[in-house]
Amino acid sequence: MVDSPFTFTLSMSEIIPSRVDNHIERRLSDLQGQFNDQAAFDKMLSTEDQLLYEVYEVKRPEIEGEMLLGVSIVHPGKVGNEFFMTKGHFHSVLETSEIYYCIRGEGYMVMETPEGETSVALLTPGKILYVPPRWAHRSVCTSRLEDLVTFFIYPANAGHDYGTIEQIGFRKLVVDGVNGPEIIDNPRYK
Ligand code: F6R
Ligand code: ZN
Repeated sequence: MVDSPFTFTLSMSEIIPSRVDNHIERRLSDLQGQFNDQAAFDKMLSTEDQLLYEVYEVKRPEIEGEMLLGVSIVHPGKVGNEFFMTKGHFHSVLETSEIYYCIRGEGYMVMETPEGETSVALLTPGKILYVPPRWAHRSVCTSRLEDLVTFFIYPANAGHDYGTIEQIGFRKLVVDGVNGPEIIDNPRYK
C-alpha cells in the first residue's frame, strides 16, 4: 500500500502541532531515582506530582523506512538545583539517529555513547541538533519561565531503551550554579 503525503503546521506561537495522534505526559514520579537530590525529589513529590514534560506525537507504523515525528515540551522548574528534564534514552536500535529543532525556550541536550563519550549541546530557538546513531539523549529546560520546545524526527523502527539510563544515569547533569546553568559530572553515576 502506498500512503498519501500529508502536511501539518507547527505555529511558532501555538507550539502544539495541528496534527496530534498521541499526547504523552510525564510527571515527577516518572523520574523516580533520576535526580541527584533525592531528598528534594521526595519533598516535592509529597506536595504534588508535577507535570515535567509533554510529547505530542504524529503516529506512523513503527517499521524501517517510516519516520516518527512530534514536539517535545519540557516545562521550567528544578528539583533541588537540577533543572527539569526528560527521562532520556538510548534507541533500542542503537544505530539510529534523531534530529531536533528548537523552536522555543532555552536548554541543553545531554548526550552520551555506551563507550563513555559525552556531549552537551545548547538549544536555543532556531538551532538544529543532529544526534548521531549510538548517542543516548535527554532534554533539559534551563529557561526560568518558558518551556523548552523542540520538534523531533527519527526512524520509526528505533524503539526506546529507557532501562539503561534508569539504572546507570547520565554521566553529566545540568544544575543551576552561581552564574546560571552549569554542566557537572554526575556524582551518582553508576
Ligand atoms: C524520541 C525522542 C523524543 C523524546 C521526548 C521525551 O526518540 O527522543 O521524542 O521521546 O523528548 O523524552 P523521553 O522519551 O526520554 O521521555
Ligand atoms: Zn530518541
